[in-house]
Amino acid sequence: MDQKLETLQQMRQQSRQGGGAARVEQQHARGKLTARERLERLMDPATFQELDPFVTHRTADFGLADRKFLGDAVVTGWGRVEGRQVFAYAQDFTVLGGSLSEVVGQKICKVMDLAGKTGCPLVGLNDSGGARIQEGALSLAAYGDIFLRNTLYSGVVPQISVILGPSAGGAVYSPAITDFIFMVQGAGQMYITGPDVVKAVTGAEVTHEALGGAAAHATRSGVAHFVYQSEDDCLAEVRRLLGFLPANNLEDPPLTPTGDPADRADPELHRLVPDAPNRPYDMREVIRRIVDDGEFMEVHQSFAPNVVVGLGRLAGRPVGLVGNQPDHLAGVLDIDASVKAARFVRFCDCFNIPLVTLVDVPGFMPGVDQEYGGIIRHGAKLIYAYAEATVPKVAVIIRKAYGGAYIVMSSKHLRSDMNLAWPSAELAVMGPEGAVNIIYREEIAKAGDQGEALRRKLVAEYQEKFTNPYIAAGRGFLDDVIDPAETRPRLIQALAMLQDKRDSLPAKKHGNIPL
Ligand code: HXC
Repeated sequence: MDQKLETLQQMRQQSRQGGGAARVEQQHARGKLTARERLERLMDPATFQELDPFVTHRTADFGLADRKFLGDAVVTGWGRVEGRQVFAYAQDFTVLGGSLSEVVGQKICKVMDLAGKTGCPLVGLNDSGGARIQEGALSLAAYGDIFLRNTLYSGVVPQISVILGPSAGGAVYSPAITDFIFMVQGAGQMYITGPDVVKAVTGAEVTHEALGGAAAHATRSGVAHFVYQSEDDCLAEVRRLLGFLPANNLEDPPLTPTGDPADRADPELHRLVPDAPNRPYDMREVIRRIVDDGEFMEVHQSFAPNVVVGLGRLAGRPVGLVGNQPDHLAGVLDIDASVKAARFVRFCDCFNIPLVTLVDVPGFMPGVDQEYGGIIRHGAKLIYAYAEATVPKVAVIIRKAYGGAYIVMSSKHLRSDMNLAWPSAELAVMGPEGAVNIIYREEIAKAGDQGEALRRKLVAEYQEKFTNPYIAAGRGFLDDVIDPAETRPRLIQALAMLQDKRDSLPAKKHGNIPL
Protein backbone atom coordinates (compact mmCIF):
# COMPACT_ATOMS: atom_id res chain seq x y z
CA MET A 1 0.00 0.00 0.00
CA ASP A 2 2.75 2.42 0.92
CA GLN A 3 4.22 2.15 -2.53
CA LYS A 4 0.85 2.67 -4.16
CA LEU A 5 0.30 5.77 -2.06
CA GLU A 6 3.73 6.99 -3.03
CA THR A 7 2.88 6.51 -6.71
CA LEU A 8 -0.32 8.46 -6.21
CA GLN A 9 1.56 11.29 -4.57
CA GLN A 10 4.16 11.33 -7.31
CA MET A 11 1.49 11.44 -9.99
CA ARG A 12 -0.32 14.25 -8.21
CA GLN A 13 2.91 16.13 -7.91
CA GLN A 14 3.61 15.61 -11.59
CA SER A 15 0.15 16.75 -12.58
CA ARG A 16 0.59 19.93 -10.55
CA GLN A 17 3.67 20.82 -12.57
CA GLY A 18 1.63 21.45 -15.71
CA GLY A 19 3.96 21.90 -18.69
CA GLY A 20 7.08 21.86 -16.48
CA ALA A 21 9.24 24.32 -14.58
CA ALA A 22 10.62 26.10 -17.65
CA ARG A 23 7.13 26.81 -19.01
CA VAL A 24 5.93 27.97 -15.61
CA GLU A 25 8.89 30.33 -15.46
CA GLN A 26 8.01 31.66 -18.91
CA GLN A 27 4.46 32.24 -17.79
CA HIS A 28 5.64 34.16 -14.71
CA ALA A 29 8.17 36.12 -16.78
CA ARG A 30 5.25 37.40 -18.84
CA GLY A 31 3.62 38.66 -15.67
CA LYS A 32 1.02 35.90 -15.82
CA LEU A 33 -0.06 33.46 -13.13
CA THR A 34 -0.37 29.73 -13.72
CA ALA A 35 -3.75 28.02 -13.95
CA ARG A 36 -3.51 26.72 -10.38
CA GLU A 37 -2.35 30.04 -8.97
CA ARG A 38 -5.35 31.67 -10.61
CA LEU A 39 -7.76 29.14 -9.16
CA GLU A 40 -6.24 29.66 -5.72
CA ARG A 41 -6.94 33.39 -6.00
CA LEU A 42 -10.45 32.85 -7.32
CA MET A 43 -11.53 30.46 -4.57
CA ASP A 44 -11.59 30.81 -0.78
CA PRO A 45 -8.29 29.53 0.70
CA ALA A 46 -7.78 25.75 0.46
CA THR A 47 -11.24 25.06 -0.95
CA PHE A 48 -10.38 24.17 -4.55
CA GLN A 49 -10.87 20.48 -5.34
CA GLU A 50 -9.48 19.29 -8.61
CA LEU A 51 -11.11 16.84 -10.99
CA ASP A 52 -9.48 14.69 -13.67
CA PRO A 53 -5.85 15.40 -12.77
CA PHE A 54 -4.71 12.20 -14.51
CA VAL A 55 -6.40 12.68 -17.87
CA THR A 56 -4.03 12.80 -20.83
CA HIS A 57 -4.52 13.48 -24.52
CA ARG A 58 -4.90 10.58 -26.95
CA THR A 59 -2.99 11.89 -29.91
CA ALA A 60 -0.06 9.97 -31.26
CA ASP A 61 0.43 12.10 -34.37
CA PHE A 62 2.64 15.13 -34.98
CA GLY A 63 5.14 14.26 -32.30
CA LEU A 64 2.64 14.21 -29.46
CA ALA A 65 2.92 10.47 -28.67
CA ASP A 66 5.69 11.15 -26.17
CA ARG A 67 4.43 14.54 -25.01
CA LYS A 68 1.70 13.80 -22.53
CA PHE A 69 0.94 15.94 -19.52
CA LEU A 70 -1.15 14.73 -16.60
CA GLY A 71 -4.35 16.73 -16.65
CA ASP A 72 -3.56 17.97 -20.17
CA ALA A 73 -4.05 21.72 -20.80
CA VAL A 74 -6.77 22.59 -18.33
CA VAL A 75 -7.31 22.43 -14.57
CA THR A 76 -10.93 21.85 -13.58
CA GLY A 77 -12.84 21.49 -10.35
CA TRP A 78 -14.88 23.26 -7.72
CA GLY A 79 -14.35 25.36 -4.64
CA ARG A 80 -15.99 28.11 -2.65
CA VAL A 81 -16.26 31.85 -3.06
CA GLU A 82 -17.27 33.59 0.17
CA GLY A 83 -18.45 30.17 1.31
CA ARG A 84 -20.67 29.50 -1.72
CA GLN A 85 -19.92 26.64 -4.15
CA VAL A 86 -18.55 27.61 -7.56
CA PHE A 87 -17.24 25.45 -10.45
CA ALA A 88 -14.30 26.59 -12.49
CA TYR A 89 -11.83 25.67 -15.17
CA ALA A 90 -8.49 27.30 -15.88
CA GLN A 91 -6.75 26.70 -19.18
CA ASP A 92 -3.08 25.89 -18.61
CA PHE A 93 -0.95 27.78 -21.12
CA THR A 94 2.17 25.92 -19.94
CA VAL A 95 0.81 22.75 -21.56
CA LEU A 96 0.85 23.05 -25.34
CA GLY A 97 -0.24 26.67 -25.12
CA GLY A 98 -3.43 25.81 -23.24
CA SER A 99 -4.76 24.46 -26.54
CA LEU A 100 -8.11 22.71 -26.51
CA SER A 101 -7.81 18.98 -27.15
CA GLU A 102 -10.61 16.46 -27.16
CA VAL A 103 -9.94 15.59 -23.51
CA VAL A 104 -9.60 19.23 -22.47
CA GLY A 105 -13.07 19.71 -23.93
CA GLN A 106 -14.36 16.69 -22.02
CA LYS A 107 -12.91 17.97 -18.75
CA ILE A 108 -14.51 21.38 -19.26
CA CYS A 109 -17.87 19.84 -20.21
CA LYS A 110 -17.78 17.72 -17.05
CA VAL A 111 -17.57 20.77 -14.75
CA MET A 112 -20.15 22.60 -16.85
CA ASP A 113 -22.57 19.70 -16.40
CA LEU A 114 -21.85 19.54 -12.67
CA ALA A 115 -22.46 23.29 -12.38
CA GLY A 116 -25.74 22.87 -14.23
CA LYS A 117 -26.89 19.85 -12.23
CA THR A 118 -25.98 21.30 -8.84
CA GLY A 119 -27.11 24.82 -9.72
CA CYS A 120 -23.82 26.63 -9.11
CA PRO A 121 -22.02 29.39 -11.01
CA LEU A 122 -19.31 28.52 -13.52
CA VAL A 123 -16.16 30.57 -14.00
CA GLY A 124 -13.89 29.93 -16.99
CA LEU A 125 -10.32 31.25 -16.87
CA ASN A 126 -9.16 31.44 -20.49
CA ASP A 127 -5.55 31.44 -21.65
CA SER A 128 -5.26 29.32 -24.77
CA GLY A 129 -3.90 29.06 -28.29
CA GLY A 130 -7.32 27.74 -29.35
CA ALA A 131 -8.18 24.45 -31.03
CA ARG A 132 -5.34 21.92 -30.68
CA ILE A 133 -4.00 21.93 -34.18
CA GLN A 134 -2.76 18.31 -34.01
CA GLU A 135 -6.27 17.03 -33.22
CA GLY A 136 -8.18 18.63 -36.06
CA ALA A 137 -11.90 17.90 -36.04
CA LEU A 138 -11.76 16.31 -32.57
CA SER A 139 -10.80 19.64 -31.14
CA LEU A 140 -13.41 21.52 -33.14
CA ALA A 141 -16.04 19.07 -31.91
CA ALA A 142 -14.94 19.75 -28.34
CA TYR A 143 -15.60 23.46 -28.85
CA GLY A 144 -19.04 22.60 -30.17
CA ASP A 145 -19.75 20.57 -27.03
CA ILE A 146 -18.76 23.57 -24.89
CA PHE A 147 -20.83 26.06 -26.89
CA LEU A 148 -23.86 23.79 -26.55
CA ARG A 149 -23.49 23.73 -22.77
CA ASN A 150 -22.88 27.49 -22.57
CA THR A 151 -26.20 27.86 -24.34
CA LEU A 152 -28.15 25.21 -22.42
CA TYR A 153 -27.02 26.53 -19.04
CA SER A 154 -27.53 30.18 -20.02
CA GLY A 155 -30.15 31.51 -17.63
CA VAL A 156 -29.76 28.44 -15.41
CA VAL A 157 -26.48 29.27 -13.65
CA PRO A 158 -24.40 32.43 -13.93
CA GLN A 159 -21.47 31.92 -16.31
CA ILE A 160 -18.44 34.19 -16.12
CA SER A 161 -15.47 34.23 -18.50
CA VAL A 162 -12.10 35.69 -17.62
CA ILE A 163 -9.68 36.35 -20.47
CA LEU A 164 -6.12 36.15 -19.15
CA GLY A 165 -4.25 35.31 -22.34
CA PRO A 166 -4.98 34.63 -25.98
CA SER A 167 -8.49 33.64 -27.01
CA ALA A 168 -8.48 33.33 -30.76
CA GLY A 169 -10.70 32.06 -33.53
CA GLY A 170 -13.95 30.31 -32.78
CA ALA A 171 -12.73 29.93 -29.21
CA VAL A 172 -14.02 33.43 -28.47
CA TYR A 173 -17.58 32.22 -28.80
CA SER A 174 -17.70 30.31 -25.56
CA PRO A 175 -16.95 33.49 -23.56
CA ALA A 176 -19.27 35.43 -25.84
CA ILE A 177 -22.24 33.24 -24.87
CA THR A 178 -21.53 33.59 -21.15
CA ASP A 179 -23.02 36.35 -19.02
CA PHE A 180 -19.93 38.43 -18.31
CA ILE A 181 -16.45 38.76 -19.77
CA PHE A 182 -13.58 40.04 -17.62
CA MET A 183 -10.28 40.96 -19.29
CA VAL A 184 -6.84 41.89 -18.02
CA GLN A 185 -5.23 44.80 -19.83
CA GLY A 186 -2.15 43.81 -21.80
CA ALA A 187 -2.66 40.06 -21.20
CA GLY A 188 -6.07 39.05 -22.55
CA GLN A 189 -6.73 39.26 -26.27
CA MET A 190 -9.79 38.11 -28.17
CA TYR A 191 -10.28 38.04 -31.91
CA ILE A 192 -11.80 35.93 -34.62
CA THR A 193 -8.64 36.17 -36.71
CA GLY A 194 -5.28 37.60 -35.66
CA PRO A 195 -3.38 40.52 -37.19
CA ASP A 196 -1.76 38.36 -39.92
CA VAL A 197 -5.08 37.24 -41.33
CA VAL A 198 -6.50 40.74 -41.01
CA LYS A 199 -3.59 42.04 -43.07
CA ALA A 200 -3.90 39.31 -45.70
CA VAL A 201 -7.64 39.78 -46.12
CA THR A 202 -8.10 43.52 -45.64
CA GLY A 203 -4.61 44.99 -46.01
CA ALA A 204 -4.95 46.74 -42.64
CA GLU A 205 -2.05 46.55 -40.21
CA VAL A 206 -2.98 46.26 -36.56
CA THR A 207 -1.30 44.98 -33.41
CA HIS A 208 -2.70 42.10 -31.31
CA GLU A 209 -3.57 44.54 -28.53
CA ALA A 210 -5.22 47.13 -30.76
CA LEU A 211 -7.25 44.43 -32.49
CA GLY A 212 -8.35 42.34 -29.56
CA GLY A 213 -7.01 43.81 -26.33
CA ALA A 214 -9.03 44.77 -23.31
CA ALA A 215 -9.27 48.46 -24.24
CA ALA A 216 -10.68 47.67 -27.68
CA HIS A 217 -13.29 45.32 -26.28
CA ALA A 218 -14.21 47.49 -23.31
CA THR A 219 -14.75 50.67 -25.31
CA ARG A 220 -15.46 49.85 -28.94
CA SER A 221 -16.90 46.36 -29.40
CA GLY A 222 -18.58 46.04 -26.02
CA VAL A 223 -17.39 42.41 -25.82
CA ALA A 224 -15.67 42.98 -22.45
CA HIS A 225 -17.80 43.96 -19.47
CA PHE A 226 -14.97 44.50 -16.99
CA VAL A 227 -11.29 45.40 -17.46
CA TYR A 228 -8.52 45.39 -14.87
CA GLN A 229 -4.81 46.13 -14.82
CA SER A 230 -3.73 42.98 -12.98
CA GLU A 231 -4.85 39.38 -12.61
CA ASP A 232 -5.11 39.81 -8.84
CA ASP A 233 -7.52 42.74 -9.17
CA CYS A 234 -9.45 40.96 -11.88
CA LEU A 235 -9.99 37.75 -9.93
CA ALA A 236 -10.89 39.73 -6.78
CA GLU A 237 -13.57 41.49 -8.82
CA VAL A 238 -14.93 38.20 -10.16
CA ARG A 239 -15.41 37.20 -6.53
CA ARG A 240 -17.13 40.52 -5.85
CA LEU A 241 -19.50 40.05 -8.78
CA LEU A 242 -20.41 36.55 -7.59
CA GLY A 243 -21.42 38.14 -4.26
CA PHE A 244 -24.31 39.88 -6.03
CA LEU A 245 -25.59 36.78 -7.81
CA PRO A 246 -27.75 33.85 -6.82
CA ALA A 247 -26.24 30.42 -7.45
CA ASN A 248 -28.91 29.65 -10.04
CA ASN A 249 -32.21 30.78 -11.56
CA LEU A 250 -34.30 29.15 -8.80
CA GLU A 251 -32.66 31.05 -5.97
CA ASP A 252 -32.94 34.63 -4.82
CA PRO A 253 -29.74 36.69 -4.80
CA PRO A 254 -27.88 36.63 -1.49
CA LEU A 255 -28.72 39.05 1.28
CA THR A 256 -25.77 41.10 2.56
CA PRO A 257 -26.38 42.81 5.90
CA THR A 258 -25.64 46.53 5.87
CA GLY A 259 -25.36 49.29 8.45
CA ASP A 260 -26.76 51.77 5.93
CA PRO A 261 -30.24 52.68 7.25
CA ALA A 262 -33.19 51.76 5.03
CA ASP A 263 -34.84 55.09 5.90
CA ARG A 264 -31.78 57.18 5.07
CA ALA A 265 -32.91 60.36 3.29
CA ASP A 266 -30.38 62.34 1.27
CA PRO A 267 -31.14 66.06 0.84
CA GLU A 268 -28.02 66.36 -1.35
CA LEU A 269 -30.11 64.82 -4.12
CA HIS A 270 -32.00 68.15 -4.31
CA ARG A 271 -28.99 69.95 -5.70
CA LEU A 272 -27.52 67.17 -7.78
CA VAL A 273 -29.81 67.65 -10.75
CA PRO A 274 -29.40 71.11 -12.31
CA ASP A 275 -32.53 73.22 -12.81
CA ALA A 276 -31.63 73.94 -16.44
CA PRO A 277 -32.95 70.96 -18.42
CA ASN A 278 -29.92 70.75 -20.70
CA ARG A 279 -27.22 70.88 -18.01
CA PRO A 280 -25.47 67.53 -17.44
CA TYR A 281 -24.92 65.71 -14.17
CA ASP A 282 -23.51 62.30 -13.32
CA MET A 283 -26.16 59.61 -12.92
CA ARG A 284 -23.58 57.44 -11.16
CA GLU A 285 -23.56 59.98 -8.35
CA VAL A 286 -27.34 59.61 -8.00
CA ILE A 287 -26.91 55.83 -7.91
CA ARG A 288 -24.15 55.92 -5.32
CA ARG A 289 -26.24 58.16 -3.08
CA ILE A 290 -29.17 55.75 -3.23
CA VAL A 291 -27.61 52.29 -2.85
CA ASP A 292 -26.27 50.65 0.32
CA ASP A 293 -22.95 52.12 1.43
CA GLY A 294 -22.47 53.81 -1.96
CA GLU A 295 -21.34 50.51 -3.47
CA PHE A 296 -22.05 50.22 -7.18
CA MET A 297 -20.43 47.58 -9.41
CA GLU A 298 -20.68 49.15 -12.82
CA VAL A 299 -20.90 46.83 -15.84
CA HIS A 300 -19.61 47.98 -19.25
CA GLN A 301 -18.19 51.15 -17.71
CA SER A 302 -16.45 52.36 -20.86
CA PHE A 303 -18.90 51.12 -23.49
CA ALA A 304 -21.92 53.24 -24.46
CA PRO A 305 -21.49 55.49 -21.41
CA ASN A 306 -24.75 57.29 -22.27
CA VAL A 307 -26.46 54.55 -20.30
CA VAL A 308 -25.16 53.28 -16.96
CA VAL A 309 -25.85 49.70 -15.83
CA GLY A 310 -24.59 47.77 -12.85
CA LEU A 311 -25.27 46.08 -9.56
CA GLY A 312 -25.83 47.54 -6.13
CA ARG A 313 -27.87 46.68 -3.05
CA LEU A 314 -30.88 48.18 -1.34
CA ALA A 315 -31.42 47.11 2.27
CA GLY A 316 -28.97 44.28 1.64
CA ARG A 317 -30.72 42.90 -1.45
CA PRO A 318 -28.98 43.02 -4.83
CA VAL A 319 -30.63 45.15 -7.51
CA GLY A 320 -29.76 45.80 -11.13
CA LEU A 321 -29.55 49.53 -11.80
CA VAL A 322 -30.13 51.04 -15.22
CA GLY A 323 -29.80 54.80 -15.61
CA ASN A 324 -29.59 57.18 -18.53
CA GLN A 325 -26.39 59.21 -18.23
CA PRO A 326 -26.92 62.96 -18.88
CA ASP A 327 -23.15 63.41 -18.60
CA HIS A 328 -22.64 61.67 -21.95
CA LEU A 329 -24.56 62.54 -25.13
CA ALA A 330 -27.29 63.91 -22.85
CA GLY A 331 -28.21 60.32 -21.99
CA VAL A 332 -29.67 59.62 -25.42
CA LEU A 333 -30.44 56.02 -26.34
CA ASP A 334 -28.38 54.96 -29.34
CA ILE A 335 -27.66 51.52 -30.78
CA ASP A 336 -24.91 50.58 -28.34
CA ALA A 337 -26.76 51.92 -25.30
CA SER A 338 -29.89 50.00 -26.24
CA VAL A 339 -28.04 46.72 -26.67
CA LYS A 340 -26.00 47.23 -23.50
CA ALA A 341 -29.04 47.95 -21.36
CA ALA A 342 -31.16 45.22 -22.97
CA ARG A 343 -28.62 42.51 -22.25
CA PHE A 344 -28.24 43.65 -18.67
CA VAL A 345 -32.01 43.73 -18.13
CA ARG A 346 -32.25 40.18 -19.46
CA PHE A 347 -29.41 39.03 -17.21
CA CYS A 348 -31.12 40.45 -14.13
CA ASP A 349 -34.41 38.88 -15.15
CA CYS A 350 -32.77 35.45 -15.58
CA PHE A 351 -31.41 35.55 -12.07
CA ASN A 352 -34.21 37.13 -10.04
CA ILE A 353 -32.44 40.44 -9.56
CA PRO A 354 -35.00 43.28 -9.29
CA LEU A 355 -34.53 46.18 -11.69
CA VAL A 356 -34.29 49.81 -10.62
CA THR A 357 -34.40 52.23 -13.56
CA LEU A 358 -33.44 55.90 -13.24
CA VAL A 359 -34.80 57.87 -16.16
CA ASP A 360 -33.43 61.05 -17.73
CA VAL A 361 -33.61 60.47 -21.45
CA PRO A 362 -34.16 62.92 -24.31
CA GLY A 363 -35.13 60.14 -26.75
CA PHE A 364 -33.53 57.83 -29.28
CA MET A 365 -30.52 59.15 -31.17
CA PRO A 366 -31.44 60.65 -34.53
CA GLY A 367 -29.09 60.29 -37.52
CA VAL A 368 -28.30 58.52 -40.75
CA ASP A 369 -25.63 56.33 -39.12
CA GLN A 370 -28.02 55.26 -36.42
CA GLU A 371 -30.83 54.50 -38.86
CA TYR A 372 -28.55 52.59 -41.24
CA GLY A 373 -27.00 50.80 -38.29
CA GLY A 374 -30.42 49.53 -37.28
CA ILE A 375 -31.46 51.68 -34.30
CA ILE A 376 -34.97 50.40 -34.99
CA ARG A 377 -34.15 46.77 -34.38
CA HIS A 378 -31.59 47.50 -31.65
CA GLY A 379 -33.88 49.88 -29.78
CA ALA A 380 -36.56 47.20 -30.02
CA LYS A 381 -34.33 44.88 -28.00
CA LEU A 382 -34.60 47.17 -24.98
CA ILE A 383 -38.38 47.40 -25.25
CA TYR A 384 -38.57 43.63 -25.56
CA ALA A 385 -36.24 43.06 -22.60
CA TYR A 386 -38.17 45.34 -20.26
CA ALA A 387 -41.56 44.09 -21.43
CA GLU A 388 -40.57 40.46 -21.01
CA ALA A 389 -38.88 40.85 -17.61
CA THR A 390 -40.94 39.48 -14.73
CA VAL A 391 -38.66 40.47 -11.84
CA PRO A 392 -39.83 43.39 -9.67
CA LYS A 393 -39.40 46.55 -11.75
CA VAL A 394 -39.24 49.98 -10.16
CA ALA A 395 -38.49 53.22 -12.01
CA VAL A 396 -37.84 56.81 -11.00
CA ILE A 397 -38.18 59.58 -13.56
CA ILE A 398 -35.63 62.15 -12.54
CA ARG A 399 -35.86 64.66 -15.35
CA LYS A 400 -36.59 64.01 -19.03
CA ALA A 401 -38.71 61.13 -20.24
CA TYR A 402 -39.34 62.00 -23.84
CA GLY A 403 -40.90 60.12 -26.67
CA GLY A 404 -40.40 56.41 -27.28
CA ALA A 405 -37.58 56.47 -24.75
CA TYR A 406 -40.14 57.25 -22.01
CA ILE A 407 -41.97 54.06 -22.86
CA VAL A 408 -38.82 51.96 -23.13
CA MET A 409 -37.29 52.92 -19.81
CA SER A 410 -39.37 50.66 -17.59
CA SER A 411 -42.64 52.50 -18.09
CA LYS A 412 -45.91 51.32 -16.59
CA HIS A 413 -46.97 50.36 -20.11
CA LEU A 414 -44.26 47.66 -20.20
CA ARG A 415 -45.64 46.33 -16.90
CA SER A 416 -43.27 48.08 -14.56
CA ASP A 417 -44.53 47.64 -11.01
CA MET A 418 -43.80 50.94 -9.32
CA ASN A 419 -43.14 54.17 -11.17
CA LEU A 420 -42.11 57.23 -9.21
CA ALA A 421 -41.04 60.67 -10.35
CA TRP A 422 -39.15 63.58 -8.91
CA PRO A 423 -40.96 66.95 -9.18
CA SER A 424 -38.37 67.86 -11.87
CA ALA A 425 -39.72 65.14 -14.20
CA GLU A 426 -40.81 66.08 -17.72
CA LEU A 427 -42.95 63.65 -19.68
CA ALA A 428 -43.59 64.61 -23.27
CA VAL A 429 -43.46 63.41 -26.83
CA MET A 430 -40.39 65.58 -27.33
CA GLY A 431 -38.55 68.61 -25.91
CA PRO A 432 -40.29 72.02 -25.99
CA GLU A 433 -38.17 73.57 -28.78
CA GLY A 434 -38.65 70.70 -31.19
CA ALA A 435 -42.34 70.39 -30.40
CA VAL A 436 -43.12 74.06 -30.95
CA ASN A 437 -41.15 74.17 -34.19
CA ILE A 438 -43.26 71.32 -35.53
CA ILE A 439 -46.76 72.16 -34.39
CA TYR A 440 -46.54 75.98 -34.79
CA ARG A 441 -44.19 76.21 -37.77
CA GLU A 442 -46.66 78.13 -39.93
CA GLU A 443 -47.80 80.53 -37.20
CA ILE A 444 -44.20 81.39 -36.32
CA ALA A 445 -43.30 81.97 -39.98
CA LYS A 446 -46.36 84.18 -40.52
CA ALA A 447 -45.55 86.30 -37.45
CA GLY A 448 -42.53 87.78 -39.29
CA ASP A 449 -40.56 90.05 -36.93
CA GLN A 450 -42.68 88.84 -34.05
CA GLY A 451 -41.89 85.18 -34.85
CA GLU A 452 -39.17 84.78 -32.25
CA ALA A 453 -41.29 86.35 -29.50
CA LEU A 454 -44.21 84.09 -30.44
CA ARG A 455 -41.96 81.06 -30.48
CA ARG A 456 -40.70 81.83 -26.98
CA LYS A 457 -44.25 82.30 -25.71
CA LEU A 458 -45.33 78.99 -27.19
CA VAL A 459 -42.30 77.20 -25.75
CA ALA A 460 -43.18 78.62 -22.32
CA GLU A 461 -46.78 77.40 -22.70
CA TYR A 462 -45.60 73.96 -23.76
CA GLN A 463 -43.20 73.81 -20.82
CA GLU A 464 -45.92 74.75 -18.40
CA LYS A 465 -48.16 72.03 -19.74
CA PHE A 466 -45.72 69.18 -20.18
CA THR A 467 -42.57 69.73 -18.15
CA ASN A 468 -43.97 68.32 -14.97
CA PRO A 469 -45.01 64.87 -13.82
CA TYR A 470 -48.61 65.65 -12.88
CA ILE A 471 -50.45 64.81 -16.11
CA ALA A 472 -48.91 61.33 -16.10
CA ALA A 473 -49.48 61.03 -12.33
CA GLY A 474 -53.10 62.06 -12.90
CA ARG A 475 -53.51 59.11 -15.23
CA GLY A 476 -51.78 56.64 -12.91
CA PHE A 477 -48.84 56.21 -15.27
CA LEU A 478 -46.83 57.34 -12.27
CA ASP A 479 -47.69 55.86 -8.89
CA ASP A 480 -46.41 58.88 -6.98
CA VAL A 481 -44.31 62.01 -7.16
CA ILE A 482 -41.67 62.00 -4.44
CA ASP A 483 -39.18 64.26 -2.72
CA PRO A 484 -35.79 63.34 -4.29
CA ALA A 485 -34.27 63.11 -0.82
CA GLU A 486 -36.64 60.19 -0.10
CA THR A 487 -35.60 58.13 -3.13
CA ARG A 488 -33.70 55.44 -1.23
CA PRO A 489 -36.40 54.75 1.39
CA ARG A 490 -39.14 54.82 -1.25
CA LEU A 491 -37.28 52.33 -3.46
CA ILE A 492 -36.63 50.04 -0.50
CA GLN A 493 -40.30 50.15 0.50
CA ALA A 494 -41.39 49.41 -3.07
CA LEU A 495 -39.02 46.47 -3.41
CA ALA A 496 -40.08 45.07 -0.03
CA MET A 497 -43.71 45.25 -1.19
CA LEU A 498 -42.76 43.46 -4.42
CA GLN A 499 -40.52 40.85 -2.86
CA ASP A 500 -42.87 37.95 -3.49
CA LYS A 501 -44.03 39.19 -6.89
CA ARG A 502 -45.01 36.48 -9.34
CA ASP A 503 -45.62 37.21 -13.00
CA SER A 504 -45.40 35.11 -16.11
CA LEU A 505 -45.38 35.09 -19.89
CA PRO A 506 -47.88 33.44 -22.22
CA ALA A 507 -46.97 29.78 -22.85
CA LYS A 508 -44.54 29.54 -25.74
CA LYS A 509 -41.38 27.78 -26.82
CA HIS A 510 -39.50 31.06 -26.71
CA GLY A 511 -40.06 34.53 -28.01
CA ASN A 512 -38.31 36.00 -30.99
CA ILE A 513 -36.33 38.94 -29.62
CA PRO A 514 -35.25 41.19 -32.51
CA LEU A 515 -31.57 40.16 -32.59
C1 HXC B 1 -1.42 23.15 -30.53
C2 HXC B 1 -0.41 25.05 -29.75
C3 HXC B 1 -1.47 25.83 -30.19
C4 HXC B 1 -2.54 25.17 -30.82
C5 HXC B 1 -0.03 27.11 -29.27
N1 HXC B 1 0.46 25.88 -29.20
N2 HXC B 1 -1.21 27.10 -29.88
N3 HXC B 1 -0.38 23.72 -29.92
N4 HXC B 1 -2.48 23.84 -30.97
N5 HXC B 1 -3.60 25.84 -31.25
C6 HXC B 1 1.70 25.48 -28.60
C7 HXC B 1 2.93 25.94 -29.37
O1 HXC B 1 3.19 25.06 -30.42
C8 HXC B 1 3.97 25.90 -28.28
O2 HXC B 1 4.29 24.56 -28.09
C9 HXC B 1 3.21 26.34 -27.05
O3 HXC B 1 1.83 26.10 -27.34
C10 HXC B 1 3.36 27.81 -26.76
O4 HXC B 1 3.05 28.54 -27.93
P1 HXC B 1 3.97 29.71 -28.48
O5 HXC B 1 3.57 29.95 -29.89
O6 HXC B 1 5.40 29.40 -28.21
O7 HXC B 1 3.55 30.88 -27.52
P2 HXC B 1 3.39 32.43 -27.87
O8 HXC B 1 4.58 32.92 -28.62
O9 HXC B 1 3.08 33.07 -26.59
O10 HXC B 1 2.14 32.54 -28.82
C11 HXC B 1 0.89 32.18 -28.33
C12 HXC B 1 -0.11 32.14 -29.49
C13 HXC B 1 0.45 31.30 -30.64
C14 HXC B 1 -0.37 33.60 -29.96
C15 HXC B 1 -1.41 31.59 -28.94
O11 HXC B 1 0.87 30.05 -30.10
C16 HXC B 1 -0.56 31.04 -31.70
O12 HXC B 1 -0.77 31.89 -32.58
N6 HXC B 1 -1.15 29.87 -31.66
C17 HXC B 1 -2.13 29.47 -32.64
C18 HXC B 1 -3.38 30.25 -32.47
C19 HXC B 1 -4.45 29.80 -33.42
O13 HXC B 1 -4.49 30.21 -34.57
N7 HXC B 1 -5.27 28.85 -32.94
C20 HXC B 1 -6.33 28.31 -33.69
C21 HXC B 1 -7.46 29.30 -33.64
S1 HXC B 1 -8.83 28.70 -34.49
P3 HXC B 1 5.71 24.03 -27.65
O14 HXC B 1 5.87 22.79 -28.44
O15 HXC B 1 6.71 25.09 -27.95
O16 HXC B 1 5.55 23.75 -26.22
C22 HXC B 1 -9.66 27.92 -33.32
C23 HXC B 1 -10.88 27.27 -33.87
C24 HXC B 1 -11.88 27.08 -32.82
O17 HXC B 1 -9.35 27.87 -32.22
C25 HXC B 1 -13.13 26.74 -33.52
C26 HXC B 1 -14.28 26.61 -32.62
C27 HXC B 1 -15.50 26.37 -33.39
